[in-house]
Amino acid sequence: MDRSQRKLDHIRHALATGMDQENIWDDVSFPPNSLPNISYGNTKLEVSLSPFTISSPILINAMTGGAEATTEVNQKLAILAREKGMAMAVGSQMAAIRDPSVLPSYQIVRKENPDGLIFANLGAEATVEQAQIALEMVEANAIQIHLNVMQELLMPEGDRDFRGYLENIKRIKQQLSVPVIVKEVGFGMSAETIKQLVEAEITIIDVGGRGGTNFAQVENRRHSLEMSMFEEWGFTTAESLLETRPWQGKGVSFLATGGVRNGLDVVKAIALGASAVGMAGAMLRLVQTKTMDECLRQVDHWHHQIRVAMTALGTASLAELRDAPVLITGRTAERATLRGWQ
Ligand code: FNR
Repeated sequence: MDRSQRKLDHIRHALATGMDQENIWDDVSFPPNSLPNISYGNTKLEVSLSPFTISSPILINAMTGGAEATTEVNQKLAILAREKGMAMAVGSQMAAIRDPSVLPSYQIVRKENPDGLIFANLGAEATVEQAQIALEMVEANAIQIHLNVMQELLMPEGDRDFRGYLENIKRIKQQLSVPVIVKEVGFGMSAETIKQLVEAEITIIDVGGRGGTNFAQVENRRHSLEMSMFEEWGFTTAESLLETRPWQGKGVSFLATGGVRNGLDVVKAIALGASAVGMAGAMLRLVQTKTMDECLRQVDHWHHQIRVAMTALGTASLAELRDAPVLITGRTAERATLRGWQ
């Protein structure tokens, strides 16, 4: 299948899936604090994702580019990022590396947001040279390397050989002058994977768990497979964050993407150890269905929800949230016990 058609198919199917997913964040809650002793006006949304400081904890995560029709989507996302101080990742840039005619669908992001924090994006099979091209294409501040083994396996045209990924990531990390972020696309990460990435000196890891856009479901629907397999594969984002426990406070920053739909989900993810939180499907749905004014108001609303939760918990900064007591129940608690996290 033609790569740009695949990009459009992904958008269409991602919009159709993800809404009916289990609510993975229901298993996470907070004991109330009736004496928070703080003022809403003093709460700060700024987060540190070393070496970056970002004025919003919400990252617009990697989605698109690679077809002419995706230019408008990326343009809207870039304006939203610029206006609300959010970092933004572009979708995989391999399409433009292979076919320069689609370059503008990515470059629009830097054009609209000349001073913002922008992340390049490629798969773990990329060469150092390709990573360099991807960085320059959008004058990126960092590069994301995505891991999507299960998605590839479910695509008839997908990769089948996953040898040498870690070595490749190490090479890219050693030869690039910007931070390398390794991200899962929605099947979650185990402590075993995280350990290998930390040993490869990766200091920003997006645990990208199940609960939102479900690429097993997207691929099964794209190929009209009668049997929907592997749609519950992996760890949810909450479960994946619990897997980061051994590395909390040790110089590694974790991003949490997968199923984040509102400000309270953001707060829950940060309380479980994320430095910042990625949203993809919810952002796509937003820019595809609302006017720019409505999109801006929605992000304001998410920021407001974050500050409401911070005030009610008595935490003026998002960094402090990581010390807030959290209750974990249901299947997340069951799996945390099995994995030895509680
Ligand atoms: C994605 N995602 C993605 N990730 C990546 O690293 N490179 C990519 O090219 C893409 N492409 C892409 C297209 C579309 C249409 C969607 C919806 C998503 C994955 C994305 O960044 C994120 O990890 C997952 O979507 C999970 O987050 P949500 O959607 O549950 O918030």
